[in-house]
Amino acid sequence: AAVPTGQPVPAALTAEAAVVSKEVTVLFGSQTGNCNGLAKKMSKKLEERGFQVTLSSMGDFKPNGLKKIQNLLILVSTHGEGDPPDNAIPFYEFLHSKRAPQLDDLKFSVLGLGDLSYEFFCQTGKDFDKRLEELGGKRLSPRADCDVDFDEPAAEWMNQVLGALSEATAGTASVIAASITSKSGIDSEYSRTNPFQAEVLENLNLNGRGSDRETRHIEISLEGSNLQYEPGDSLGIYPENHPRLVDELLEAMEWKAEEQVTVNKSGLQLPLREALLRHFEITVLTKPLLEQAAKLTASGGLKELLEPGREQELRAYIDERDLLDLVQDYALKGVPAGEFVSILRKMPARLYSIASSPKAFPDEVHVTVRAVRYEAHGRNRYGVCSVQLAERVQQGEGLPVYIQHNSNFKLPENPDTPIIMIGPGTGVAPFRAFLGERDETGAEGKTWLFYGDQHFSTDFLYQLEWQRWLKDGVLTRMDVAFSRDTDQKVYVQHRMLQKSREFYQWLQEGACVYVCGDEKKMAHDVHTTLAAILEQEGGLSSEEAAEYLTRMQQEKRYQRDVY
Ligand code: 2AM
Repeated sequence: AAVPTGQPVPAALTAEAAVVSKEVTVLFGSQTGNCNGLAKKMSKKLEERGFQVTLSSMGDFKPNGLKKIQNLLILVSTHGEGDPPDNAIPFYEFLHSKRAPQLDDLKFSVLGLGDLSYEFFCQTGKDFDKRLEELGGKRLSPRADCDVDFDEPAAEWMNQVLGALSEATAGTASVIAASITSKSGIDSEYSRTNPFQAEVLENLNLNGRGSDRETRHIEISLEGSNLQYEPGDSLGIYPENHPRLVDELLEAMEWKAEEQVTVNKSGLQLPLREALLRHFEITVLTKPLLEQAAKLTASGGLKELLEPGREQELRAYIDERDLLDLVQDYALKGVPAGEFVSILRKMPARLYSIASSPKAFPDEVHVTVRAVRYEAHGRNRYGVCSVQLAERVQQGEGLPVYIQHNSNFKLPENPDTPIIMIGPGTGVAPFRAFLGERDETGAEGKTWLFYGDQHFSTDFLYQLEWQRWLKDGVLTRMDVAFSRDTDQKVYVQHRMLQKSREFYQWLQEGACVYVCGDEKKMAHDVHTTLAAILEQEGGLSSEEAAEYLTRMQQEKRYQRDVY
């Protein structure tokens, strides 16, 4: 019999379980869904070995149950400046507060996901690990900190934890293995580790002539893949590096394009140029990469940059430079290609919020991608995936893609629930999916969209679609902020504040608030504005407004997809 994870196991199944606990709680904190996926995988492995698993998002977990837990596994990612994912924040804060209980009977292990190119690599995982120990917990097995290519280290951590748990509970009778059933029933064979080669059906520039921006609307066929998604999910795309950058690198290093190099652990060999185009990341630096590169050169400059006291300079270098800068600035010419590529990171996929409803466009997925181009340190720099899509992907060509499910950005289950969507720029993408879905399903709930970009005449993405939905009543209200059409900049949050009374009214009626787009500036300012509206219209103190927003997040009435 299949027992869904997180549900109580029927008495008939538990009767045989012995006194020693084979109960394991698996908690995940996930922004983009990777920890969610790994936690599910871990739960399945545990259940196959007879453990009784409670799998929960940190956002749904009631921390007063913490004291009763004997075995706790934490899987959590880190964002921005070492921040926990949104849905992990309340639990993170509880655990780090005075209210956290003593946990002397707890056994635990932590898996952290992160990105080595960031300063506060895996900080949230490290914090949980340290805090659980402070509270008296004992480690089942050491914490693992994973870089973007997390599959192998995560699998290793899982095996270690499984070994430790099996040892600790040896001799304990097993409950019957349960299995997690997939939601859709049909599982696609395609995934992040086995992407689907999808055909590009359409690739249009949404911006008008004269715009500073180039935003691509890309339609991709999923036909034959069995890949399923819901509004709020993301599409992963494996990009190729810019051929010009690859050629400049080959030239700077005096490497031969056709030289065979090894590109993965299973020993696959490819010509160097192809390997640099598709298999390795050459636009992002990390400290471990610099440390390893320093060992490959006799020149001391790079070693000096890595010495104590120069942290700020090192951080600026990592944040602003790429591999071509590195080899030119630190005399790496002469290092054999095979040796050099062995220290590079595998090319990670880029995630884009899906802009289509699968009900409106069966077998298709749409994304909205803004080309990233800028000049820095005397050279033009290009966003790897966005500029490839803008310049080098034609209709009819193939792209390796997969679906990244994101349970943290979903339409309310009740179609009558009002929704407020805040999405300037490409942040509007998932709201095209939301409205398409509400249109197709005939949902009755009110909808309100806040949109903004630089200029009305050239940057009003999907203008005709919003207008049609307004006319049809699928979109109840729309407020726009074009920041560069007036002397003073106007942003979406200014429009929210102008409509604060109605905004508050919608919140009182139970509206869900969704924010998508730039994290550092926009989403931060929008958050502050939400609090201001609650204070101004609801008479709340600033503490009460903060608590209100936390509660909204816990109740999934305030969800963010920010980058
Ligand atoms: P700007 O480029 O004129 O500053 C989409 O990128 C839109 O978001 C643009 O109109 C951009 O305005 C605007 N934007 C920039 N910073 C913002 C912020 N802190 N809050 C809200 N919108 C912002």
